[in-house]
Amino acid sequence: MISVVFVCLGNICRSPMAELIFKDMVASEEVNERFSVSSCGTSDCEEGNPVYPPARRTLDRHGIFGEHTARQIGRADIVNNDYIIVMDSSNLMDVLHLAGEANGGKVYKLMSFAGSGADVADPWYTRDFERAYNDIVRGCRAFLDFVLNKK
Ligand code: 4NP
Repeated sequence: MISVVFVCLGNICRSPMAELIFKDMVASEEVNERFSVSSCGTSDCEEGNPVYPPARRTLDRHGIFGEHTARQIGRADIVNNDYIIVMDSSNLMDVLHLAGEANGGKVYKLMSFAGSGADVADPWYTRDFERAYNDIVRGCRAFLDFVLNKK
């Protein structure tokens, strides 16, 4: 089993979009049984909240369904996952701090799998949920190819 946790700040926009998009992707490729997929936020500011409505509507438009309730990252997320995938450089700093040296090697920025040093465009500030969706699809696709091709 390959375990993956996607991480952003609030866990209501980018990381739940990544979780639901990636779950949809592995299901369409019929490799879902090989993966355990979740998401969380570095902050507790949105704890208990559902996916942010504009993010939800963007997923709906693309035929991606499923629910998520926001929660803050904990030590177990660091220890129990093979891949801890963050959305931006700020998440990266926070998660690396939490992970420490022993687990730092499991932490990746999503767009790095697509050969980019960029952050996922943050829709909280851009209000462009479609652009965030497109970034996340590109990153998830590249990540899935990376994992499936790994020996
Ligand atoms: P997310 O978006 O980290 O992609 O879930 C945000 C959610 C909440 C806030 C910022 C970004 N906030 O400042 O409350």
